[in-house]
Amino acid sequence: MVKLVGGVATSHVPSIGAAMDNGKTQEPYWKALFDGYEPARQWMRDKAPDVVIVVFNDHASAFSLDLIPTFLIGVADQFPPADEGYGPRKVPMVDGHAELAWHLAESLILDEFDMTIANTMPVDHGLTVPLSIMCGQPESWPCKVIPLCVNVIQYPPPTGMRCYKLGKAIRRALDSFDEDLSVAIFGTGGMSHQLQGERAGIINQDFDTDFLNRLGSDPDSLAKIPHADYIMEAGSEGIELVMWLIMRGALDDNVIEVYRHYHVPASNTAAGLIILENDD
Ligand code: DHB
Ligand code: FE
Repeated sequence: MVKLVGGVATSHVPSIGAAMDNGKTQEPYWKALFDGYEPARQWMRDKAPDVVIVVFNDHASAFSLDLIPTFLIGVADQFPPADEGYGPRKVPMVDGHAELAWHLAESLILDEFDMTIANTMPVDHGLTVPLSIMCGQPESWPCKVIPLCVNVIQYPPPTGMRCYKLGKAIRRALDSFDEDLSVAIFGTGGMSHQLQGERAGIINQDFDTDFLNRLGSDPDSLAKIPHADYIMEAGSEGIELVMWLIMRGALDDNVIEVYRHYHVPASNTAAGLIILENDD
């Protein structure tokens, strides 16, 4: 049986990883952000999940515009950190959990979510930065990782509702796995940010706060937010927030909010983090 220990949503800003890799976390610009990550790291140590499903988007690192999978699951034994132009981050190799990943692939596809299957894939900041945020700088990552990629780069991305329903299908898959495992699920990206164009740099704290407030208590209403609203309210890269709904869909209807951290700015992004647990 799988024990789902909780869900985490967090931004995946690359410069957060760079600040850690280059020893800058105690500098004035970064200190408050990283201080706010400490309780989340403690939660991760306490829960010590065997496996984490990390929902993230590839930023043209593993896939160019030649190939755009809407939803993809990584079933490999290992996923190397990607070279995003400055050489790969000096973080540990990411170890997969092929058995659970294949079970998820089979269950999701037979449940009518047509996943692309990746037998090999470098993983970029979308996945490694959340691991750094939650685990710090260990010699090796303390959990196995199943990468689950979502296209939020090239129009048309999936709707929030589709993502929320995928989360529910992930839960059904976890509930039908025979082995005893503790599992956490991370949704990454967001919050409000736009990296290019005339509105580059926009941050919308009201939108972000409302999103954080409703993620635990009223995800059905969040799942109905249309794409255009994400762009108008949260900037063009705010669409990454649909990945938080995959995490939320995997949890029970009733959850408790264990922790929340929100800090502006981290690079061009409003950095948010929230931890939810099933209320049982
Ligand atoms: C930034 C944020 C992201 O989510 C990303 O993928 C790349 C850059 C940023 O704020 O710099
Ligand atoms: Fe991103």
